Amino acid sequence: MASEHYFSSQPSVPEKRRPLQVVLAGAPRNLQTSGGIFSPDNIDKGTAILLGEAPPPSPQGNLLDIGCGWGPIALALALRAPHARVYAVDVNERAIALTKDNAAALGLDNVTASLPDDVDDALEFNTIWSNPPIRVGKDELHSLLLKWLPRLAPGGTAYLVVQKNLGSDSLQRWLDIELAAQFPALRLKVSRDSTNKAFRILKVARPAL
Ligand SMILES: C[S@@+](CC[C@H](N)C(=O)[O-])C[C@H]1O[C@@H](n2cnc3c(N)ncnc32)[C@H](O)[C@@H]1O
Repeated sequence: MASEHYFSSQPSVPEKRRPLQVVLAGAPRNLQTSGGIFSPDNIDKGTAILLGEAPPPSPQGNLLDIGCGWGPIALALALRAPHARVYAVDVNERAIALTKDNAAALGLDNVTASLPDDVDDALEFNTIWSNPPIRVGKDELHSLLLKWLPRLAPGGTAYLVVQKNLGSDSLQRWLDIELAAQFPALRLKVSRDSTNKAFRILKVARPAL
């Protein structure tokens, strides 16, 4: 199944673009999708919950979508915060290209989609939203979260949507312990922002200076 390999850098199924119509930031949008990426034909349930329930993103500064797929989260951030710069990262090069092209189709010039290592190490983020890649395995998921969450700017907040049956509660406990142990000076606070039958939204907040 193509979705089993959605985090390959070069998916094995051939790229065949097709139209995708979805509602994003309150309006229908005509976009493109392709096989070989996550949730190619619609907005994933967890992503929809995050988009519907997270408080508004920072109106300015740098915003980040970790694991952008075809771009639903990054595009929603960019539509809702037109004066902010949105960074969308993925390891799947097809996903990066789709996010770039979908941003262009919406006339958005505030989205930068790239491989994770191409983001300037000096940047900090006012808002991070992500439907993180739980299926890559614990070690990789943990190192990805420890790479990006400590880059919250002072006063910044991250919202992560995680399925309950994929370990949201143990991930919350792990984040709380590891972020405090490894980055004590940042005083990151981990909490559960909202809960739905099947998903939780985890919140990580960095106090203002
Ligand atoms: C659950 S999907 C979410 C995709 C999209 N944001 C959405 O809501 O439809 C997670 C994404 O993370 C990407 N990913 C996997 N490992 C990654 C890594 N180390 N860094 C960044 N993205 C990664 C996958 O390729 C996939 O597109």
